[in-house]
Amino acid sequence: MKKNIGKTIWFTGLSGSGKSTLSTEIKTILEQRNINVVLLDGDLLRSGLNRDLGFSAEDRAENIRRAGETAKILCEAGHTVLAAFITPLETLRRAVRNLFHPGSYLEIYLECSLNVCENRDPKGLYKKARQGVIPNFTGISSPFEIPHAPDLLISTDSMSTTESTDLIMRFLDARFPDIREGIRLAKAAPERRKKVAVIGLDGVPASLIFDRFKDRLPTFRLLMEHGTWGPLKSTDPPITIPAWACLTTGKDPGELGIYGFRNRASYDYSPLCASDSLAIKAPGIWDYVEDYGGHSILIGIPQTYPAKKHPGITISGFPASRNSENFTYPPQLNNELDRIAGGTYMEDIREFRNRPLSELSTELHQMVERRFRVTGELMIAQPWDFLMMVEIAPDRAHHMFWRFFDPNHPKYEPGTEFENIIPEFYDFLDSRLNSLLSLMDDDTTVIIVSDHGAMPCEGGVCINRWLIDNGYLFLNRPIDEISRLDPGMVDWSRTTAWSEGGYYGRIFLNVRNREPQGTIDPENYEMFRDDLARRLQIIDDGHGNSTINTVFKPDQLYAELFNTPPDLMIYIDGLKRRALSLVGPTDIFVDGDGYSLDDCNHDPYGIFICVDLADLRRGRKINRKLAAMSYRDLFPLALGIHGIDAGVNTSCPNTVFPSTQFDQTVQASWSYAQASQSLRVEQNGQQKGFSLEEQEIVRKRLEELGYI
Ligand code: ADX
Repeated sequence: MKKNIGKTIWFTGLSGSGKSTLSTEIKTILEQRNINVVLLDGDLLRSGLNRDLGFSAEDRAENIRRAGETAKILCEAGHTVLAAFITPLETLRRAVRNLFHPGSYLEIYLECSLNVCENRDPKGLYKKARQGVIPNFTGISSPFEIPHAPDLLISTDSMSTTESTDLIMRFLDARFPDIREGIRLAKAAPERRKKVAVIGLDGVPASLIFDRFKDRLPTFRLLMEHGTWGPLKSTDPPITIPAWACLTTGKDPGELGIYGFRNRASYDYSPLCASDSLAIKAPGIWDYVEDYGGHSILIGIPQTYPAKKHPGITISGFPASRNSENFTYPPQLNNELDRIAGGTYMEDIREFRNRPLSELSTELHQMVERRFRVTGELMIAQPWDFLMMVEIAPDRAHHMFWRFFDPNHPKYEPGTEFENIIPEFYDFLDSRLNSLLSLMDDDTTVIIVSDHGAMPCEGGVCINRWLIDNGYLFLNRPIDEISRLDPGMVDWSRTTAWSEGGYYGRIFLNVRNREPQGTIDPENYEMFRDDLARRLQIIDDGHGNSTINTVFKPDQLYAELFNTPPDLMIYIDGLKRRALSLVGPTDIFVDGDGYSLDDCNHDPYGIFICVDLADLRRGRKINRKLAAMSYRDLFPLALGIHGIDAGVNTSCPNTVFPSTQFDQTVQASWSYAQASQSLRVEQNGQQKGFSLEEQEIVRKRLEELGYI
């Protein structure tokens, strides 16, 4: 018989949550792999070794103490122990965990609502407890504390026994290579390289994770305690596109030539075009990793549609067309996604402005559940050195529900049924994050990052209206209905400036010899631009409304200016108000329905948390707060962990990873010189980006989301 290293897998959960069923299933599978397993079950021990004990708090503690000590003896003798006890209190669980070496003990929480357990009632005990026949019954008349940091959480009320068993086995295979080797005795252990897993959370603000929810979210807290963390300054502008592309390439928006979701394709007056993956010409973190022989798994990263061919897997992120064969790489993965996800895989929430909020809340959870499940499954089934997934749901949750939960929102509506949607969404996200982390081995460094933050939306400002009122923009004829500015409406022979809206405003100047009917003399360009920038610093509607704004020249903000940059960029009232491109019978300052406004705007501070899982699992507390991370830092840091020097300076590489010992062999064979020869910057020539029809669909979608 193969000698395995001893380990203990402790199942905790309410009576009826599936502890006995699942531990018996796991026992059978492990025995088929010739592994020496002992099952310690609450009912079994209580009929023998512990028959002197009842269910008072003291007796339960003694019950668990004896069970833990027994497991320890067996474990040290090389057995794999499966322990199934309610273990209702966090103190009891901690006491058991402390008996074991960190690498030999795992806690699995079988999450199941009391309702479902009570309906199952396999032994008829809940009924008796309700009748008062059984006192101190867990969940009814005796407490059950939700585990703070289980290594794995399984929702047994929503998963079948087979699915749960499957997930537990995958988890055990990932965490205990010698259990895996039980079935592959002949195979040598795989070469171990440092891996990097980036979990991107779109729109998660520093203010929530590091402040308002800091005592609420056990997984985030655990990661912070064992890692390095702090607010992360987003790109200017702080919006999903270009922020993710900048995070993953280490470039600024000007260097990428991507200034927003949609960009001018040239200096003529044609409408802006949506940017897709083909617009990103700089190599991403994964390109480097792959050029050094690694594999990547990329899931849901915005602006990765169309998915490119590469050594690894891509599931494109928003905006993307699920119907296209370019939605995933390899293409056939798209057909498998719903099965793996356990329901329709959702790249985003559709039409969220026109649907009941209660329905949307359910969908947010489903979207997270499924994306995390797919990520977990692929993570286990596929080889990877770099993994990055982005969950768009937090951003969507903020846009839909912020006013119900933030007293600082000008339209704060306290006490509604939606009050807890955002907090509970974060609880759920936290638990799924925990489950995902449990599937990663100790060689993994996890980076949790968001692309921007969130804050209340305080309304919109129609900049084109202001430009018209102030003699910059002229229309051919008055517009009867409030509409977005269309180039066909503009009298270009007189116009000097016009604007595109979104979370920030872009101002374009009509310059002679640059635009087809330019009106500003190139010699006067700087003077004109300076003057307009100065005037835009305060927008006043003459009726007592005004905002103080920040106006940027892109050339002062960015290292390079590729493609067609705006002439000026404007953040209205510290980004509290959105810029709108509307013209027609509208005021300058607007609010309410019909203006593409919703509950939140973007603030410039997202989050950054970096943890070496070896530190976490060994209980090594680091808890280092960094004050000034920038989006630029992710790229060199992620590559640095892989031992790749991408030739970019970061503000704090050594302080972030003092505990990370770069694997010397990896560092030596993955030299930068070698990579720079072969970097794949050219795109696959056959691939197409958005078609004209798709451009229109994307435009509508972006409008709905407030990006335009
Ligand atoms: S623990 O709380 O001390 O961890 P343990 O897992 O050993 O409990 O035993 C739980 C089992 O005892 C339940 O599955 C159930 O069959 C039985 N039982 C009898 N009385 C109670 C009670 N008052 N509370 C919980 N379980 C009870």
